This record gives sequence, C-alpha cells and structure tokens, in this order.
Amino acid sequence: MAPFSRATVCVTGGTGFVASELIKQLLEKAYTVKTTVRNPDDDEKLLHLKALAEGLPGSLSFHKADLLERGAFDSVVQGCTYIFHTASPFFIDSDDPQKALIDPAVKGTENVLQSAAKVSSVSRVVLTSSVAAVQGNFGAPPKNGKLYTEEDWNETSTIEKGQAYHLSKTLAEKAAWKLAKASKFELVTICPNFVLGPVMSRRSSGTSIGYMKGYLEGRGSLGSSANCDVRDVAKAHVLAAEIPSASGRYIISEPAPVPAAKQASEWLQAAFPSVKLSTGEDSKDTKELFDNSKAAKELGLNLTSPKSTLVDMAATMMALGIAKPTTKH
Ligand SMILES: NC(=O)c1ccc[n+]([C@@H]2O[C@H](COP(=O)([O-])OP(=O)(O)OC[C@H]3O[C@@H](n4cnc5c(N)ncnc54)[C@H](OP(=O)(O)O)[C@@H]3O)[C@@H](O)[C@H]2O)c1
Repeated sequence: MAPFSRATVCVTGGTGFVASELIKQLLEKAYTVKTTVRNPDDDEKLLHLKALAEGLPGSLSFHKADLLERGAFDSVVQGCTYIFHTASPFFIDSDDPQKALIDPAVKGTENVLQSAAKVSSVSRVVLTSSVAAVQGNFGAPPKNGKLYTEEDWNETSTIEKGQAYHLSKTLAEKAAWKLAKASKFELVTICPNFVLGPVMSRRSSGTSIGYMKGYLEGRGSLGSSANCDVRDVAKAHVLAAEIPSASGRYIISEPAPVPAAKQASEWLQAAFPSVKLSTGEDSKDTKELFDNSKAAKELGLNLTSPKSTLVDMAATMMALGIAKPTTKH
C-alpha cells in the first residue's frame, strides 16, 4: 500500500526561522512540501531542512524564487492546495527602507498571491503578517480601549518615524486582503508578536536569533516585549489552513510583556548554571496589551510557557554553536 500522504503545499522562504519550524510540522503531518528559497545552492541554509525531510513522513523539494521577480512563484504553486507565505525581510535598521523592506514585503506578497490566483488547486493562502500590522510603536490606543484585537490596524507607522518594518507588514497584509477579495482562494493571516523558541538552522543571522545570541554572549539584555513561541506560530499556520472555518486574522502573542526581564534571566541562569548570564532589569511595563483569545477559541491553540520558549531557544542555540556564552570559572 502506498504510504499515507497529504496535500501538496508551498512554503515561501523556507530558510527562515518561522518557516523552518512550519516545514517541520508539515513534514510530520506527511504533507508534500514545496519550499521557495533565494539560493538553492546555499547548503548551510538548507542542511537542516534536508535532514528533517530524511527523517519525517512528508516530502520536501526546493524551488528558487525571489520575492521581487515577477512570476517567480507561478510554477511552484502549481498543484498546491495551501500556500504559506512567510518570506519577508525582517530587520529594523536599513539605509534604504523602501527598497530593502517595503518593496519585498508588499510587491513580494502581491507576486505570490497573484501566482496563487492563477491556479485552481489553491484553496487557501495563509500569510505570515505580524502584530506590527496591528499596533504601531507610537500607536493609537486599541479600538476597544483595552486590548489590541484583530480589529485593530497599525495606522501610525511611517518610514520617517523609523518604523519601516512595521509599515512593510501593514502594507503587505492590506495588499493581501485586497487581492484575496478579487480572487477565489481564501486568505487567513497570522499576526505573531516577537517570535522566540527553538532553532534548527546553524545560521546566526535573523532578528529573533540575534536577540537571544546577543543576550547569551553578554552584549544585550532581555527586553520586555510580549513574545510568542515559534512552535505555536507554526502550529497556528497549519491549523489556519486545515480548519475549514478559520478566517480573518489571528494574533499569536502572550497577552502582556512577560516574562519580566529579571524573571527570564533567572529561568535561563537556573537552566544553564555554568554559563555567565547578565541579570535583567525588570520592566515596569507589564500591562496586558493583546487579546489572544481568537486563536484559542477558533484554532484551539494553547500557548507554550514563556519559560520553555526561552530555555529551549537558548539550549538549541548553544548546542548548534550559534551562541557561544562565557562560562563561569
Ligand atoms: N521573528 C519574529 O519575531 C516575527 C514576528 C512577527 C512576524 N514575523 C514574520 O515572520 C516571517 C518570517 O520571519 P523570520 O523571523 O522567520 O525571519 P527570517 O528568519 O529572517 O526569515 C526571512 C525569510 O524571508 C526570506 N526573504 C527575505 N527577502 C526575500 C526576497 N527578496 N526574496 C525571497 N525571500 C526573501 C529569507 O530568505 P533568505 O534566507 O534568502 O534571506 C528568509 O527565508 C516574516 O514575514 C516576518 O515578518 C516574524
């Protein structure tokens, strides 16, 4: 008997932190996964994905595509039931934010969704948006006066305010909804907060990875943003595709900026006693900001504890040699 296999799906930007975990979960569920990468010859970036594919029930193939190349996604989406569009530049500082952040995010989203619209097999597109599309840093208060929900949109970020990344995610998600309205596929968007959690790739670049690396190597402190776990973010993508009634946007976030930095560094120090870690300063700002109940109710998503998120991220980064902390004598 042929082995059980699920639908064929496409994941854009397979080398990414979020996409790698998503591919792992899809392969565990026996999906046939086509992933797009900018450079299929970059072995360092693809090694962990090839290893995953060898040990898991699904199958994985790599397809070259750049977000800015018109029509680059036309062939890879053929035969796909779901498209997970995760690829987008994620960094904050840039000399040319329009070119480096906004164009790939917005034109890239349009490019991927236009390819999806041409193919009858695609029933749903799941877009990785962000809470950056929900709330700007210098943003307006939530619509309901209490917590930011999926009803809120970031209407305040501009390049001039240094929020090009926030703007890129807002414009990209808006462009996606506009295109979806005129297309036959359904769109669901996932809006994660700052994503942390275990890593699989040896690659040390990337904003989430750089944040933890800086802390473990003594160059940074643990801030107090409301985080979320990469495993939960990936699971939300899968559920958003699989659950027929899933619709609209889903915020994936701890409700408040927890854990406070001091508590977080205590957890990490207890988990890695021989490593020299700095003590964080507790932030006073731990008030609840995000209503994450829609994902819990409609997707049945239970969030991983912040302690596991941080400890598992640090453990995998040290094991892979991405973070090389100083040890205590
Ligand atoms: N990490 C977070 O805290 C967070 C929070 C909310 C939302 N998100 C969203 O989650 C998604 C993934 O983020 P991540 O943290 O996984 O970032 P990441 O590790 O930096 O991955 C970004 C991915 O986008 C690809 N990419 C960038 N520019 C591209 C282009 N011009 N053409 C094709 N591919 C391109 C990268 O490919 P290369 O390997 O070729 O560079 C990489 O695969 C993004 O949409 C991001 O906005 C992330």
